Amino acid sequence: MTMVYKRRLWTGLQRLSGGMIKVFPYVRAQTSESAMSKEQRVLQYVQQNASRGDPDSVLAAVDKFGWETEWAMNLGDVKGAILDRFVKETAPQTMLELGTYMGYSAIRIARLLPETAKFMTVEFDQENAAVAREMIEFAGLQNRIIQITSDTADVIPQLKTKYDVETLDMVFIDHWKDVYVRDIKLLETNKLLRKGTVVVADNIIKPGAPEYAEYVRTCGKYDSTFHESRFEYSNDDIDGLEKSVFRG
Ligand SMILES: C[S@@+](CC[C@H](N)C(=O)[O-])C[C@H]1O[C@@H](n2cnc3c(N)ncnc32)[C@H](O)[C@@H]1O
Repeated sequence: MTMVYKRRLWTGLQRLSGGMIKVFPYVRAQTSESAMSKEQRVLQYVQQNASRGDPDSVLAAVDKFGWETEWAMNLGDVKGAILDRFVKETAPQTMLELGTYMGYSAIRIARLLPETAKFMTVEFDQENAAVAREMIEFAGLQNRIIQITSDTADVIPQLKTKYDVETLDMVFIDHWKDVYVRDIKLLETNKLLRKGTVVVADNIIKPGAPEYAEYVRTCGKYDSTFHESRFEYSNDDIDGLEKSVFRG
């Protein structure tokens, strides 16, 4: 049935009922669905399909939505397994993530950290940060993740003074690709890296961070390796993570 026909039918019904039927049901259903952002739809799916307080069930629900319903720019389960391995090997006590989005990778990371670890994640989009807050709270990790809603370029110079960070053990870089180089240089100049700090960056191939890859591989400050994988929620497109260990 077309929307025009449905509307005519509704107008007829309204006339017959003497105006008792007030709301055009098709419009209401459509508006409530389309008024939600993709991120809100993912959050709603998680709230309806995952178990509160169980981070793994939250990750599984986000991934199922990403594979089966709508693509989203989360790290995803395939590259996520590689990041899990790096986090377990590094066992960071102080960690920073650039680019929270809806909190998927923050939840992935935080569930592997010891309770004593300090883990900060930065996002400048207020709506994404709000969804992440609810996602993280649903996963039960709100006391393990410090969410900072700001531009990474403003936050990095404040980490020592405002967030009481001496140096970082691990960094996960996953915000806009054209500022990866700016921000790793900011981490260096603000003396937040120490010998052995592990810096992991996503999307080296797709959408691609060629200047960043070139920088960490050739500047002489890092031992850098590429870890090939697949782009999130895709079996075909190649992507990968760059793991760069600061030489000090
Ligand atoms: C690819 S998404 C992050 C995905 C997330 N790490 C995950 O895997 O679940 C990139 C996010 O970085 C945020 N972002 C981009 N540039 C930023 C900046 N300069 N400061 C803070 N957030 C930024 C975007 O708003 C977006 O939400």
